[in-house]
Amino acid sequence: MQAARFPGIKACVFDAYGTLFDVHSAVGRHRARLGDQADAVSTLWRGKQLEYTWLRSIMGRHVDFWRVTGDALDYALDAHDISDAALRNDLMQAYMGLDAYPEVSEVLRRLKAAGMQTAILSNGSPAMLESAVNAAGIADLLDANLSVEDVGIYKPDPRVYQLAVDRLGVTREQISFQSSNAWDAAGAASFGFRVAWVNRFGQRRERLDHAPDAEIKDLNELLSVVGAD
Ligand code: LAC
Repeated sequence: MQAARFPGIKACVFDAYGTLFDVHSAVGRHRARLGDQADAVSTLWRGKQLEYTWLRSIMGRHVDFWRVTGDALDYALDAHDISDAALRNDLMQAYMGLDAYPEVSEVLRRLKAAGMQTAILSNGSPAMLESAVNAAGIADLLDANLSVEDVGIYKPDPRVYQLAVDRLGVTREQISFQSSNAWDAAGAASFGFRVAWVNRFGQRRERLDHAPDAEIKDLNELLSVVGAD
C-alpha cells in the first residue's frame, strides 16, 4: 500500500451519470434505430440535460431530473427531425438501467472492505437512482443514494454538496468526491471536498478557479488515492 494522496478520508462519494453509469449506453442499445445520427443525438441529449439543470437552478424553476432528461431528449430528437414515440419511450426506459462502468462494483467492494462509507450524490431523482443501482447490482455496496431532490436545486449549488456532509456525518475534508463531469468536480472542489476528476475520455481541464486535487482515468486509480489499495 502506498501513502494515500488524500489522507484521512472517511467517505467516498460518487457522481452517478458519467461517473458510475455510462450515459451513452441508452442510445447504444438502440443505435440501429438512430442510424448515423446516434452519437450526435446522444451527445446533444446529454448536453441539453445538463444545460436545463443549470438554467432551471438559476431561474428558480426546479423540476426533477426525470422531467429534465425527457425534455432534453425531446429537444435532441427534434433537432435531428426524429419523431418516434416508441423510440423516445425505449430510450427513457434505458436511462433507468444504464450500464455501469466495468470497474465500479469491484472498486466499491474494496472501498467498503477498507472501512470507507460509500455514497452516490447525484442530480438523479430517487427513483432513477434506485433503479440504476439495482440494475447494476451495486445497491448493497452503497451506504446512501443522495439525490438533489432533497434540496430542490441542481449541482453545482453548494447546498447539494452539503447534503453529503449532513447525511454521512463527516466533515467536508473527510469526503473524497469523484466525478467525470469536470464542472461538477470544480463545484465540489469549491465546496471543500477532496476531489478526484475521473477523466475517462481525455478531456481538457476546465478554466474554473477550483481545480480537482487529483485526476484519474478510471475509478481503479481511486483506491491508491484514498489509501484503500
Ligand atoms: C449527476 C450528473 C451530474 O449524476 O451526472 O449528478
